[in-house]
Amino acid sequence: MGLRAYQILTCVSFFVLFPVIHCWGNDGHVAVCRIAQSRLREAAADAVKQLLPESADNDLGSVCTWADHVKFHYHWSSALHFIDTPDNLCTYQYNRDCKDEDGVKGRCVAGAINNYTTQLLSYNSASSSHSEYNLTEALLFLSHFIGDIHQPLHVGFTSDRGGNTIDVHWYTRKQVLHHVWDNNIIETAEERFYNSNIDGLVDAIQQNITTDWADLVKKWETCSANNTACPDVYASEGIKAACDWAYKGVSEGSVLEGAAGQLILMLASLEI
Ligand SMILES: *[C@@H]1O[C@H](CO)[C@@H](O)[C@H](O)[C@H]1NC(C)=O
Ligand SMILES: *[C@@H]1O[C@H](CO)[C@@H](O)[C@H](O)[C@H]1NC(C)=O
Ligand SMILES: *[C@@H]1O[C@H](CO)[C@@H](O)[C@H](O)[C@H]1NC(C)=O
Ligand SMILES: *[C@@H]1O[C@H](CO)[C@@H](O)[C@H](O)[C@H]1NC(C)=O
Ligand SMILES: [Zn+2]
Repeated sequence: MGLRAYQILTCVSFFVLFPVIHCWGNDGHVAVCRIAQSRLREAAADAVKQLLPESADNDLGSVCTWADHVKFHYHWSSALHFIDTPDNLCTYQYNRDCKDEDGVKGRCVAGAINNYTTQLLSYNSASSSHSEYNLTEALLFLSHFIGDIHQPLHVGFTSDRGGNTIDVHWYTRKQVLHHVWDNNIIETAEERFYNSNIDGLVDAIQQNITTDWADLVKKWETCSANNTACPDVYASEGIKAACDWAYKGVSEGSVLEGAAGQLILMLASLEI
């Protein structure tokens, strides 16, 4: 959801001056993509390697925010980053909620995950080199949208645009609630627990995936008997987490702090 032009300008000019500064929810996406790439089976890892642009140097994480950068150029794609659900209901239904502002069905992040998964399934078929779709773009969209759908406020209420119209303070800094969940919680956790280092965060999650969360992983992998992707499961969890955590007790002007609990909840619902 909503990156505003001024944020992008700020981000671009910072980027020129200080190339290490991270912009627009970078780290959440990078973490999701690095973890995902490390868990691919051999055939999938080979396909990803083939599809990635050469400049990515076989690092999916490095191109995980491509979908945000093309939002303006590919204007049709901007509706594919989120889902608006009815205010205060705290539930999600594909048929009811997955549509864009003009009411076109399937145009939401869950529909996009189905779309790009289906396109990528054609990778090995004889015709794939003549596919009507650009499978590099399909990969970059899919890996980005899997991150988006797991940010609770990307499946948020319609009237506040997923927390984009709720002004809060993150500690002393003024932010919109959506941005707190896109960026601040993750960045604060990195600063506090991982020496401001994304690799530390990624390692800690990977560690948990092989130990404490090992049983959950099986559940994640078998989320549906009949479908390769399970975006409806993720979206339902997302709006529930939004109500239980992100919206809970928050109103215009609230002061928010104390990232750890929220981050852990969010990470625990990561599906890979
Ligand atoms: C599916 O992918 C194609 C190719 O990128 C795109 O034109 C179309 O809008 C996508 N639809 C959805 C719902 O993601
Ligand atoms: C596929 O998309 C990528 C990224 O937009 C682009 O660089 C590449 O040229 C496209 N490939 C084809 C065959 O159009
Ligand atoms: C790993 O799991 C433990 C136990 O559930 C939890 O306390 C810790 O915060 C988790 N680490 C991360 C990075 O989520
Ligand atoms: C999978 O598809 C079969 C046949 O269409 C159906 O009987 C079964 O209930 C489906 N399973 C799930 C979990 O949707
Ligand atoms: Zn996005």
